[in-house]
Amino acid sequence: MRYDPSFFAGAAVHYRSGRPPYSPQLEALLAAELGLDDGHGGDGSGRLLDVGCGPGILTIRLAHLFEAVVGLDPDAAMIAEGRGAAQERGIANITWIQARAEELPEVAPGPYRMVTFGQSFYWTDEIRVAEAVYDMLEPGGALALVGHKFEGRPVPPSPGPPRIPHDEIGELVRKYLGPTRRAGQSAPPVQALSLEDALAGTRFGAPRVIFAPGIPDLVRDVESVVSGYFSMSFAAPHLFGDRVDEFAVEVRELLWERSPEGVFWDWPGDTEVMFVRK
Ligand SMILES: C[S@@+](CC[C@H](N)C(=O)[O-])C[C@H]1O[C@@H](n2cnc3c(N)ncnc32)[C@H](O)[C@@H]1O
Repeated sequence: MRYDPSFFAGAAVHYRSGRPPYSPQLEALLAAELGLDDGHGGDGSGRLLDVGCGPGILTIRLAHLFEAVVGLDPDAAMIAEGRGAAQERGIANITWIQARAEELPEVAPGPYRMVTFGQSFYWTDEIRVAEAVYDMLEPGGALALVGHKFEGRPVPPSPGPPRIPHDEIGELVRKYLGPTRRAGQSAPPVQALSLEDALAGTRFGAPRVIFAPGIPDLVRDVESVVSGYFSMSFAAPHLFGDRVDEFAVEVRELLWERSPEGVFWDWPGDTEVMFVRK
């Protein structure tokens, strides 16, 4: 797959405030799977590589579990957000590298105890990248693909506020950008294989799929919902050109109409981890 530097152009500043967090139990789940110290009593051990780290979502959450961590992403603005967020939190064991996964191992040589991809594996040349990662892991090390899973998962009861009107916002995106889903200068990557099948075709073999419970009562305000859209490659700010503010105004108007209190329930699903070991 050919990387396009404009896939997430303008999205980085919206990412942390706009995207729903992964399960609060994710760290514990990964630590238990790997047999790691939970970080509360020790300094962490081994090294973590977080590929397609974006603004350091997993990189920062998992940093305390490891002695040293590398966050890798080709988007300079994402890396800058990650670095800033780590500094704000006083986290000093992360090295940030601007590079594509396809440039591994040279840009971030192993060995690693764990390599993570948070909603990023599908942006890469999956089989080739997984094979490179296999060679970079220490024996017994793990690859974990992390993402939100909504389909087929039980939906908790609403805590009260209305759901985000994704269908209607999607209509607005199409009104501005046309009927074909966009990403960068053309279209998003075509996923020929499911993530499971892609891994099954590598030396790792088929993954174990584990779930950590999502946050059932996540409530977002209007600005957070708008940011959520701008953080997506298919609605990244650059795609709207000089109509970006006009689009944001229309989305805000719609949201205030749907929720006079300006708050929405966001249920992104449970956190899914596809886990394989070397
Ligand atoms: C949806 S974001 C995920 C960010 C973060 N990992 C998370 O869990 O929220 C996808 C990230 O993958 C990155 N990406 C796209 N193509 C890539 C490639 N070929 N190699 C590595 N990362 C890539 C993008 O720049 C973007 O930051």
